[in-house]
Amino acid sequence: MNRPVLAVALATAIGAAALSPVGRPAVAQPAPATPNPAPATPKPRSIGEATFLGKCRYCHVEMGPGTLTLAKRLGPENGLLAARTDLTADYVKAVVRNGLNTMPPINRVEVSDRELDTIATWLAAHNKPAGKRKPGRGTD
Ligand code: HEC
Repeated sequence: MNRPVLAVALATAIGAAALSPVGRPAVAQPAPATPNPAPATPKPRSIGEATFLGKCRYCHVEMGPGTLTLAKRLGPENGLLAARTDLTADYVKAVVRNGLNTMPPINRVEVSDRELDTIATWLAAHNKPAGKRKPGRGTD
């Protein structure tokens, strides 16, 4: 841990809090057109993709630590989870709940069983040839 940097960050946070008006309700700002302008991610096309992006994007986008670690360990074609064709839902669930090397375990408060189910099913199925998909799922 880099203490000087932390101290500066804390001082900045405290300073910012002291400067903000107290006792007055915050003026509602119109929502920005793009809430997160940094990664230009296309709109999610399914609930599975949306849940994956909401819960896992932090580490599993391009250049995220998960993507980079997997690319190093398993080869560049296996870095991006969303592009994988070899994942099973059970494997995804086991990794998420137990962690894997530098990926920390993620508990039921952070990602509920239902959300994990949705994510795991999407990761396992969305890149499979159409014939192997369960009926009723997205066509992406
Ligand atoms: C804090 C960062 C972080 C978050 C958040 C995170 N992961 Fe990971 N994940 C990693 C890292 C790092 C690895 C690589 C571990 C290794 O192989 O050493 C990894 C690996 C994995 C693997 C293993 C893939 C393989 O081929 O073995 C799966 C599956 C996975 N993550 C799923 C998820 C899912 C699903 C979520 C969201 C619910 C998620 N991860 C959230 C960091 C993260």
